[in-house]
Amino acid sequence: MKILVVGTGAREHAICQAAIKDEETKIYSIMSNQNPGIAKISDFKIASENDIPRVTKFAVENKVDMAIIGPEAPLEKGIVNSLLEAGVDCVGPTMEAAKIETDKAFMRNLFRDYKIRGELIYRVFDDAQEAGDFIDDFSKDVVVKPIGLTGGKGVKIVGEQLKDNEEAKSYVKEIIDTKMSGYAGVVIEERAVGEEFTVQAFVDGKNIAPMPVVQDHPYAFEGDQGPITGGMGSYSDTDGLLPFLDEKYRDESVGIIEKTVEAINKEVGPYKGFLYGQFMLTNEGPKLIEYNARFGDPEAMNVLPLLQTNFIDICKSIVDGNLKGVEFDTLATVCKYIVPQGYPGKAIPNQVINVDEEKINENNTLVYYAAVNQKDNKIYTSSSRALALVSVGDTISEAEQICETSTQFVDGDVYHRRDVGTSELIEKRVKHMNELLGK
Ligand code: GLY
Repeated sequence: MKILVVGTGAREHAICQAAIKDEETKIYSIMSNQNPGIAKISDFKIASENDIPRVTKFAVENKVDMAIIGPEAPLEKGIVNSLLEAGVDCVGPTMEAAKIETDKAFMRNLFRDYKIRGELIYRVFDDAQEAGDFIDDFSKDVVVKPIGLTGGKGVKIVGEQLKDNEEAKSYVKEIIDTKMSGYAGVVIEERAVGEEFTVQAFVDGKNIAPMPVVQDHPYAFEGDQGPITGGMGSYSDTDGLLPFLDEKYRDESVGIIEKTVEAINKEVGPYKGFLYGQFMLTNEGPKLIEYNARFGDPEAMNVLPLLQTNFIDICKSIVDGNLKGVEFDTLATVCKYIVPQGYPGKAIPNQVINVDEEKINENNTLVYYAAVNQKDNKIYTSSSRALALVSVGDTISEAEQICETSTQFVDGDVYHRRDVGTSELIEKRVKHMNELLGK
């Protein structure tokens, strides 16, 4: 079977690695720069993944049977609509179904209209004065969200990136005046307090198959300090739960995803692909923070190496609408992202890094390349995340130690968070959650 993987990063590298385990699969890929990991196992074309006519032409010319879409931007632009029209089956939602990520007002209204649990108090505004009055009258801290996509940089929270309500109101005005993310509108939500976690699911339009729960680490520096990044690393546990999250809350979160998929189907048609639910476990149970119409990055790298079920068979069943249970190894994983110094601010791009893949693999660690570019057999950084290292173990602690050891085999002007997956940090999460739950 010929498949096309669209996207350039570590998430797409992980998708390609999962796909290549199927011996009958040949991978084509479209990427915006040469990811050495994807390049090694695919017939690739360097082109923008957002150039929908070009991607469609490439798929048709190469007679690909199925396309798997990695990032959200081409989904918003209708890549799936275009490929389906050209006769190419797709694992990824149409632009209408992808609104669950690309239109935050649509998402919140869906929760309200279909009475889905895990909702937050929210309002949508296109008038900065009215939004400001709401912020002033609201008794809790708020979160300000542009309605559309902002590459993870748009959401700001009072008490974190926004000092106070005055800063929140200025930010609202900026969003509306500049039509940030393409909309002259904003979503204001109550700020949820607790521990964040990610539940990802395969979705065939009707049925869902959940994956092990993962916790990402968005802050740049150890101890959850510094600016927000795309994610500095993540971990998952042997039982598919997390040390601070039990089965009851996991099942509740999966139930929220099931109801959401049902509601999307009724509103705009079937959602097919991967669905990422970012939740906050609060003292009132799980609250849905946001959805992504794709795999998480880094969360994809925690779950895909654990797949027991053939990934290509799962993708076919998503297309055919007959998805059944998906099995995973009962092992723990730790993923650590290696990023250029200066990231997520001003990292100097085009720096050579040396990655000793042989030593890393000998140390039972997987390498997933992200925003790097291969030229003349050298690997150059960009200003974004460079590569993810993933280790698997019988415990989170074991996986963490293996992963940390492997970081020494990457040389360059880079850094990573040493504390991701450490017992110390996990105990802190458990303590925080126990305090909130009054345990
Ligand atoms: N883990 C963050 C994201 O995938 O957007």
